[in-house]
Amino acid sequence: MGEKRATVITVGLQKGGVGKSTSSGILSYFLSREGYKVLAVDMDSQGNLTDLLTQQEYDYFEEKTILEAYEDGSVEKYIYEVNENLHIVPSDDYFATLAIRLYTSDEMKYIKEKSLGLKMILEPVIYDYDFVIIDTPPSLSEPMVNALCTSDYCLVIAESSKWAYNAIPRFIETVDRAKEVNPNLEILGILRTMSDSRRADSKAFAEIIKETWPELCFDVIIKRKASTGRLSLEGLFDNKELSSALDQYELFYKELKKRVRK
Ligand SMILES: Nc1ncnc2c1ncn2[C@@H]1O[C@H](COP(=O)(O)OP(=O)(O)OP(=O)(O)O)[C@@H](O)[C@H]1O
Ligand SMILES: [Mg+2]
Repeated sequence: MGEKRATVITVGLQKGGVGKSTSSGILSYFLSREGYKVLAVDMDSQGNLTDLLTQQEYDYFEEKTILEAYEDGSVEKYIYEVNENLHIVPSDDYFATLAIRLYTSDEMKYIKEKSLGLKMILEPVIYDYDFVIIDTPPSLSEPMVNALCTSDYCLVIAESSKWAYNAIPRFIETVDRAKEVNPNLEILGILRTMSDSRRADSKAFAEIIKETWPELCFDVIIKRKASTGRLSLEGLFDNKELSSALDQYELFYKELKKRVRK
C-alpha cells in the first residue's frame, strides 16, 4: 500500500460518441505503461472501457461488476487485472439500474449521501494506486455525479461539433455543483476530438471551443483516424497499428502530465 492517495480523474461530457471511452482507455494505458499503478473504473453500463481494456467476452464479468461492488461496499473483489500496472472495475448492462438501486435497494442503504457512493467503495483501495481513471456515460446521471464527487480532476471530451459545444457549459455547471460536495474538484482541460479536416463545420467548432475556453483547451486536437477508431476492435495490446492509433494521443498525454503536476 502506498502513502499517497491516488489522483482521481473523471472523463466526461453528457454527449454520446465523442471519444470518452477511447480517451479514458488510452489515458489509462499510457499511465500504466509509464509505470504508474492505474485503476480504470467503468461507470457506463455500455461497458465499452471494459471491452477496450480486457477484450473479454461480454458474459465474462457477469455479477462481477461495479454494480456488485456498490452492493458489497467495496470494489476490492471486483478488480480485474489487465496486467501488473493496469487494473479495471468492469461494468455491464445491469449498471443502468444504479440510480433506482441507490435509492431503493436494501444493499445500498449504507450509502447515506447518494452522490458519495463511488467515493465510499473506492476508499479501501485508494492508496494502492497512483491514478484512478473513471469513464462515464453520456448523461448527467448518478454515475456521472458519483464520479465527479470522488474526483480531483475532470477531463472534458468535446467532439468538434455543435451539440458537443452546447453540452460544455452545462457540464461545467454540473462540475460547479459537484464542488459543493467535493471542493477538490478541478477541470483538467477540454480535449477536442473527432475533428474532420474535410468538414468546415468541424474545423469551425474546434476553433469556437478554443475561443470560448482558451485556457481550458488542450493545444492538440484529436482527428478522426481509422486506426484510432479500430482500437475498439484490435485493443491496446498485440495491435500491429498501435503506434499509428495512439500518436495523436501521445501529444495530449504530454500536455496532460504538465496540467496534473500544477
Ligand atoms: N479519433 C478517432 N477517430 C476515429 N474513430 C474514433 C476516434 N475516437 C473514437 N472513435 C470511435 O468512435 C466511436 C465513439 O467513441 P467512444 O466510444 O470512445 O465515444 P464515447 O464518448 O465513449 O461514446 P458513448 O457516449 O457512447 O460512451 C467508437 O466507435 C470509437 O471506436
Ligand atoms: Mg463511452
